[in-house]
Amino acid sequence: SLVTTGELVTAAAAARRAVAAFNVITLEHIEAVVAGAEAAGSPVVLQVSENAVKFRHGRLLPLARAAVAAAEQAAVPVALHLDHVRGDSLLRQAPDAGFSSVMYDAARLPYAENLAATRAAADWAHARGLWIEAELGEVGGKDGRPPLDAHAPGARTRPAQARAFVADTGVDALAVAIGSVHAMTTRTARLDHDLLKCLAARLDVPLVLHGSSGVPDDELTAAVAGGITKVNIGTALSIAMTAAIRTHLAAHPEAVDSRTYLGVGRAAMADTVERLIRTLTPA
Ligand code: G3H
Ligand code: ZN
Repeated sequence: SLVTTGELVTAAAAARRAVAAFNVITLEHIEAVVAGAEAAGSPVVLQVSENAVKFRHGRLLPLARAAVAAAEQAAVPVALHLDHVRGDSLLRQAPDAGFSSVMYDAARLPYAENLAATRAAADWAHARGLWIEAELGEVGGKDGRPPLDAHAPGARTRPAQARAFVADTGVDALAVAIGSVHAMTTRTARLDHDLLKCLAARLDVPLVLHGSSGVPDDELTAAVAGGITKVNIGTALSIAMTAAIRTHLAAHPEAVDSRTYLGVGRAAMADTVERLIRTLTPA
């Protein structure tokens, strides 16, 4: 069933659990995320990033409509989230396209500009009943930019500043920079659990972990125990899909029907989704 991101995150926070949010690029991603969540028996967030919209020739609706339909027919609660939005024109499409939430990404801007842009986005979103997430500090690694050193002190979210940012913008959740980096292809990130503890104690909104593909299982479990409520995962699906298709095509050089390899890629993504949800929500 189609539900709102706000209700999934609120329920997860109350239970001191986390909800997994997977970035989708193709219809196969959408089907895999729903299948994996159904197999795990857990709710899930389907998220579409601004970069995914760019890949879809700048059009949000084809993927959004597919995601809405998949959510409506899912056997578990599924919410739709528009991720890493930088452009106001995309932000304004969110409600009509079926999204109950957005992540407004002005984290690359200097503090004062991030604050002003995020506050304006939050006012706009709240007037339309949307739940909004923002980022402070910089998780980094997006758009092919050299991953900034996640361990450099300046890259991390500072607790006092984060508290003021949340109060001044009115956002519903905050993405924090605690050591993860976007688009990692190895699961070797180490998180700053002391900083997370400090942030969780100082902030009264749910905290979001970005770049979670590079975070190993034990670190993910510890992050959830430490106060992370939404875990964003993208690259792990690409890794699973691409490896499965590469293996399949190497073993079947005669393959022609695109369903053969797309099906293999989709199944590999569904397995990854199920496994990661089980890691985040131990029985
Ligand atoms: O917002 C999306 C996530 O931060 C995904 O990051 O691709 O490194 O897992 P990832
Ligand atoms: Zn992200």
